[in-house]
Amino acid sequence: AGGSVFECKEYLFKVLVIGELGVGKTSIIKRYVHQLFSQHYRATIGVDFALKVINWDSKTLVRLQLWDIAGKETLIHFSHVTLGQERFGNMTRVYYKEAVGAFVVFDVTRGSTFEAVSKWKHDLDNKVKLANGSPIPSVLLANKCDQKNDSSNNTTLMDNFCKETGFLGWFETSAKDNINVDEAARFLVENILAND
Ligand code: GTP
Ligand code: MG
Repeated sequence: AGGSVFECKEYLFKVLVIGELGVGKTSIIKRYVHQLFSQHYRATIGVDFALKVINWDSKTLVRLQLWDIAGKETLIHFSHVTLGQERFGNMTRVYYKEAVGAFVVFDVTRGSTFEAVSKWKHDLDNKVKLANGSPIPSVLLANKCDQKNDSSNNTTLMDNFCKETGFLGWFETSAKDNINVDEAARFLVENILAND
């Protein structure tokens, strides 16, 4: 009688991490998966992958497959090919396929990266949808909050922006000081599980 202790649900979720060049996508993933941080910047080329296994509760195992997507399109040139140069331009449609959640990241020290958030969100919503046709759950990350020197409070502004743009919510994060990275991931996974 009752559920067996061996009953366990396992999930594999593909989650995208997108945003402008150098905002800290790779660093957030490194922090979350390996508890590492490096000041050294090496731009991601194309896409990288990382896997985070979460013992969600006593009978739920979640595998997060994190897709770390380059902030800048990679141009691949075949200059020797007689047919001319091939441009593998915007690969995001391919990368986004079958994703069930996303983080959109910006850098709090560079306003232009926040201005680009709408563009990334738009791209996301246009290229991937849940089976029922609704947008995939997405969370906005205001990264490098360790570098914020003014203590200005943009909470209402950010809440409204999220509502308008269709983000579930936002977190101030620091990959460097390990602020809110786990919390943001937990929040996204909760929402992905709710869609299951
Ligand atoms: P692309 O792969 O080029 O799109 O960049 P990215 O978004 O993956 O950025 P990346 O994680 O490589 O970080 C860029 C730079 O910002 C690196 O020098 C990091 O050390 C630094 N950085 C990332 N996160 C933080 C943070 O939370 N705080 C501080 N102070 N620096 C950070
Ligand atoms: Mg990167």
